[in-house]
Amino acid sequence: MKRKIFITGGGGMLASEMEFFYSKRGDDVFAPTIGQLNILEIGKVEDAILHFKPDYVLHTAALHVNDCEEHPEMAFKLNSWATSNLARICQKNNSGFVYISSCGYFGDEVKYYSEYDPVVLKTVYARAKHQGEVLAIKECERTFAIRPGWLFGGSVKQPKNFVYQRYLEASKGGEIKTAGDKFGSPTYIGDLVMKIDEILMADRPGLYHVTGNGGGSRADYVKKIVENCGLKTKVVPVDSGLFPRKANVPDCEMLHNWNLKFIGLSPMPNWEDAIERYCKTMLEELKSE
Ligand SMILES: NC(=O)c1ccc[n+]([C@@H]2O[C@H](COP(=O)([O-])OP(=O)(O)OC[C@H]3O[C@@H](n4cnc5c(N)ncnc54)[C@H](OP(=O)(O)O)[C@@H]3O)[C@@H](O)[C@H]2O)c1
Repeated sequence: MKRKIFITGGGGMLASEMEFFYSKRGDDVFAPTIGQLNILEIGKVEDAILHFKPDYVLHTAALHVNDCEEHPEMAFKLNSWATSNLARICQKNNSGFVYISSCGYFGDEVKYYSEYDPVVLKTVYARAKHQGEVLAIKECERTFAIRPGWLFGGSVKQPKNFVYQRYLEASKGGEIKTAGDKFGSPTYIGDLVMKIDEILMADRPGLYHVTGNGGGSRADYVKKIVENCGLKTKVVPVDSGLFPRKANVPDCEMLHNWNLKFIGLSPMPNWEDAIERYCKTMLEELKSE
């Protein structure tokens, strides 16, 4: 069955993967960029959704971690208030609302966190994104709140392509110093988009952790990238204090994906295998340029 899919933040890394996936599947996709539709202009957003009549709105647009710390008012306007408005419009239009949330809600203890762990909100980004999640669930009965891990994948042309950036860095030789004390679950956007679609097909609104299976330190992540790009550059795990950030991000963002299991879906692929698959795709893209 052909569906109508509306994606916010068109042109972004995850939104582009979603647009590619649903277009290839034969669905009717509308993914306006910020220049075409700013989600802060809520009247225009409402008109666009009521006109397009999507089966699902996939909401990826957000203000990111460091920008939130610098601009807290905009952080809550975009990540909380605009999210809540989108959810309300979806409720009115009878559209499912997919909110792309965050993994950075659990503080510093190094362990895996499930959907049932209490949150510890250390950054403005975490507070604003989490508030977006709470409001989305309140405003729209058919909200699918998705907490992904550290995202990678997509075209090398995406400015935020983490794997490609590390490939460029490693290609220069020498060594790469990276945090050995920050932990997460790297998540391939190709796998994430497919799993979100499985959740939609199961028609089970709710809260889902959807990350690459397993986890590791930032240094483990970079090592895997370098190895799978066929490079010999040494990766040195260091204290994250060497790279001061505006936001005091949590030490641990590794997630258990319990609710996926509870609704009978298979786990996401292992993150290390996903890096291997993606590096092959990326190197092919570079060769064909
Ligand atoms: N990247 C990660 O590791 C990660 C991890 C967990 C969760 N997430 C969440 O995943 C989602 C997608 O992340 P991503 O990495 O794909 O981000 P991204 O590449 O920066 O995409 C976000 C897009 O939203 C657009 N945007 C910003 N403000 C907007 C507005 N007011 N109206 C319309 N569009 C607007 C951005 O445009 P401009 O670029 O022109 O500003 C950008 O194209 C976000 O919600 C993020 O919080 C990301």
